[in-house]
Amino acid sequence: MEKKLTILFGTETGNAEMLAHDAANAAKSNGFAVEVRGMDEISVEELYNVHRLLIYCSTWGDGEQPDNAQDLFDAVSDCPPSALTGLNYGVLALGDTAFDLFCESGKEWDALLEQKGANRLLERMDCDTDFEDDAEYWTEQSLDKMAKVE
Ligand SMILES: Cc1cc2nc3c(=O)[nH]c(=O)nc-3n(C[C@H](O)[C@H](O)[C@H](O)COP(=O)(O)O)c2cc1C
Repeated sequence: MEKKLTILFGTETGNAEMLAHDAANAAKSNGFAVEVRGMDEISVEELYNVHRLLIYCSTWGDGEQPDNAQDLFDAVSDCPPSALTGLNYGVLALGDTAFDLFCESGKEWDALLEQKGANRLLERMDCDTDFEDDAEYWTEQSLDKMAKVE
């Protein structure tokens, strides 16, 4: 049976969305049943039933979540501590080292999901503005790991 993989993106100008769609194409080629959504297109209740999750999220303002990510972030923050125990996840953070709070939003997601009981399947990747090669490498690694999750 095909393994389900959910890919979420938090973005303001589309970089994370583009990477999420690249990852979805790669995942489909690897036999996953993939769903790609913006973070404002999924409810926290739906997230409770997700078993495999990749997040691509940029950072805005002064270390803030992108607009489409803030509500979901707040909703997950309000979950009980063990709400996401069935979830296996990886986070790719997009940012720019010119900012003090480099990749802060991705770091926050990575920490929050762990705090809610989810299993970090691989180390977070923090990407600077030349993110393409790092992102492609990380996506390959993450799909290898996800393929092993029953
Ligand atoms: C106004 C503005 C504020 C930003 N703030 C941060 C920041 O605080 N930390 C960081 O690491 N990157 C910051 N960035 C860089 C973006 O995260 C980076 O350009 C990213 O690739 C954008 O991805 P997106 O198109 O998916 O939103 C900022 C960029 C802009 C234009």
